Amino acid sequence: MKYFAYKEKDLYCEDVQLKELAEEFGTPLYVYSRNQLVENFHSIDDQFKHLDHRTCYALKANSNVFLLRTLAEEGAGADVVSAGELYLAFKAGFKPEHIVFAGVGKREDELEYALNEGIHCFNVESTQELQLLSLVALRLQKTARVALRINPDIDSESHPYVSTGLKQHKFGIESGQAIEVFRFARGLPNLELMGVHMHIGSQIVKVSPFVEAATFVANLVQQLRSEEFPISHIDFGGGFGVQYVNALMHEAIPPESTEQPAPTSSDFFSPVIPVLQQTGCSIWLEPGRSIVADAGILLTQVLYTKEMGQKKFVIVDAAMNDLLRPSLYNAYHQIVPTTIDTYEHEKVDVVGPICETGDFFAKERMMSRAKQKDTLAILTAGAYGFVNASNYNSRLRPAEVLVNGDRVRVIRQRQSLDQLL
Ligand code: LLP
Repeated sequence: MKYFAYKEKDLYCEDVQLKELAEEFGTPLYVYSRNQLVENFHSIDDQFKHLDHRTCYALKANSNVFLLRTLAEEGAGADVVSAGELYLAFKAGFKPEHIVFAGVGKREDELEYALNEGIHCFNVESTQELQLLSLVALRLQKTARVALRINPDIDSESHPYVSTGLKQHKFGIESGQAIEVFRFARGLPNLELMGVHMHIGSQIVKVSPFVEAATFVANLVQQLRSEEFPISHIDFGGGFGVQYVNALMHEAIPPESTEQPAPTSSDFFSPVIPVLQQTGCSIWLEPGRSIVADAGILLTQVLYTKEMGQKKFVIVDAAMNDLLRPSLYNAYHQIVPTTIDTYEHEKVDVVGPICETGDFFAKERMMSRAKQKDTLAILTAGAYGFVNASNYNSRLRPAEVLVNGDRVRVIRQRQSLDQLL
């Protein structure tokens, strides 16, 4: 997250002081760095530049249309999972031939919309979906390009809620049935069976599951070709983990002692590319988090501090409705001051105003001492942050701004009370 850094005592996003942004636009406020976003995209995409490939950004991580437009301009494709995401992808300027449609439960109207628009590929997850897609395509007199999502039964060792590649999960077609389902699909009209799709989970911080997945898919492609299936496309999914702990280091900020640094793009892809390349297929990817997570932070103001027995609470004006990840997955987000005015540390719980004990951002966390009215930055909040925001407790959804050098653009207005009606 090199575009978020301290200059002397103040935390900046690119050339903009974050404390000033909080004063100007209020809190809670999502702030994104355009240059970080673009750099993250290229750090992945460039690994594949010598191959026929497309890096499709997974919109579910953050679907703000301004961020999408930036990525579309940089040459990204789009991985969508709903009619809403497809609509936003078109609004942002993604070309239909650069769009893939994933998801275990696509509705008929969604299949129809995507077929009419001529997207590149449907990642299909069941025989019933194949049948429905074929019927809709027949009715519309179109051909649907299809990749079958195969569940390779690989343990990605990520959080159980975001782990998707084991056979007890709802995703994809069981690997043992893969060939059989391909044969079944061959008999259906108006489908062009062109590829294999997989996605084994999210926030995976080990390289080995990806190597295992690449080997699995390469073998499967070989097997399919021996049965005359003209496989030309591998969609290798997303899931590449990012650094949440010690994301930002400064001598005044207590570091967390554990945790290895997350692998870099080159760590992830150098062992995988040769395996995928030998298939001769076009390689498609669906990263979300690794493109947008460290390009965004959430600014929040300290409303009150209070001590109860041994515990100290820092009560901030952001809550689980703004950033759900800590409440939902016990996810760690580093929290740092936007201005360093102390070298003192203390152990605190950082909590929001919502009437639930689960409304917290940190528990028993050693942090820089925070006082009333301080502005704090919750880091690495660009992915699965705003997209999961809600109006719970009838709180207004936060605003979002995009920084590019010294320029700031509001890319989503804060909701107003009348929008709650
Ligand atoms: N492709 C498919 C089919 C997916 O299901 C996902 C994420 C992605 C790509 C993008 O994965 P990424 O590169 O972002 O890991 N809300 C959770 C994460 C849920 C991920 C769901 N699927 C969180 O906040 O950690």
